[in-house]
Amino acid sequence: MSEQRQRVFSGIQPSGSTHLGNYLGALRNWERLQHNMDSVYCIVDLHALTLPKAPGEVVEGTMNMTRMLMAIGIDPALSILFTQSHVHQHAELGWLMQCVTGYGELRRMTQFKDKSDRLGGVSESDADEATSGNNASISAGLFTYPALQAADILLYDTDVVPVGDDQRQHIELTRDLANRMNSRYGEGTVVVPDHQIPAAGARVMNLQYPEQKMSKSVGSDAGTINVLDDPKAIEKKVRRAVTDNDGEVRFDVQEKPGVSNLLSILAACTGDDPEKLAEKYTQYGPLKADTAAAVIAELTPIQERYRAISDSDVAATLAVGAEKATAVAAPVMQRIRTAIGLVSPTP
Ligand code: TYM
Repeated sequence: MSEQRQRVFSGIQPSGSTHLGNYLGALRNWERLQHNMDSVYCIVDLHALTLPKAPGEVVEGTMNMTRMLMAIGIDPALSILFTQSHVHQHAELGWLMQCVTGYGELRRMTQFKDKSDRLGGVSESDADEATSGNNASISAGLFTYPALQAADILLYDTDVVPVGDDQRQHIELTRDLANRMNSRYGEGTVVVPDHQIPAAGARVMNLQYPEQKMSKSVGSDAGTINVLDDPKAIEKKVRRAVTDNDGEVRFDVQEKPGVSNLLSILAACTGDDPEKLAEKYTQYGPLKADTAAAVIAELTPIQERYRAISDSDVAATLAVGAEKATAVAAPVMQRIRTAIGLVSPTP
């Protein structure tokens, strides 16, 4: 009898350009894991709607993100690759998870605090703010987002969730919610997942503001390396990366965030240790040149594959993915409905 393979699930939003942080923190590991784990990867279009989107934007983002994941090497023959809104059980379990998630738990989420601050911040006191001002533009969905994320994960009986460091808190909440479901509705109602965060590349920082993480939505374009940036653009961005004035190459995230970010990126690309790498350099120039070259070597093959994937390949991949994902999610959803005690639709 062969041992049952572990199940991997992860997701990415189809908004903005895919950047080096997404790639080193998460997507590269998705590709690796698919070879010996049962892998399910999701483009989370419903999550993208928590911030306002024009009609058409999500379609384009989803198509481009699918193409990107295929170019990175997510193979539809090895993994289930699909978009969230094609499997309606995400929305269904999302609601049920909202009903076991505490208001206080959601209020503690740093991603909600960061994103709502960017929209002007939440006001608790002023009643007028409810229909105008900042509170009106911060959607309820942005607040309950982590409950939908928990649903995504639990719907596939997931053992392992490969993510970057910024998702740690969401996965820890998912674990708490999974344990709560099991103690409320019986052991085995859901599988309790674990996160997997890489040793190198878990938190790639903005090259211009190295105390902020590289992000699709915040920070300058000059500080963000996009996976589709051409080699000249990458060289320029790395050459202009903010460092410091003491001239010493040392891995020290607190004191030297810019230099440490470059060392981390280089280490993630080459598989070396950032502290050991630092010993090889006495000046910032050569460190920057090697970092740019390593990033270009990593991204060029992806860019070539990206250009070769047709729209019809993308559409066909999503259609097959939706069918395979539903085949896994539907029975899990049924099991959870029964455990919770909802009336069955069939007599
Ligand atoms: P998203 O779309 O913001 O990011 C996708 C993945 O990229 C990682 N990441 C980074 N890693 C290192 N350095 C960075 N600067 C950096 N920026 C982003 C993220 O950690 C993530 O792994 N809420 C999720 C999407 C989601 C999800 C899920 C993830 C929805 N449901 C279920 C896992 C499981 C998000 O917004 O990721």
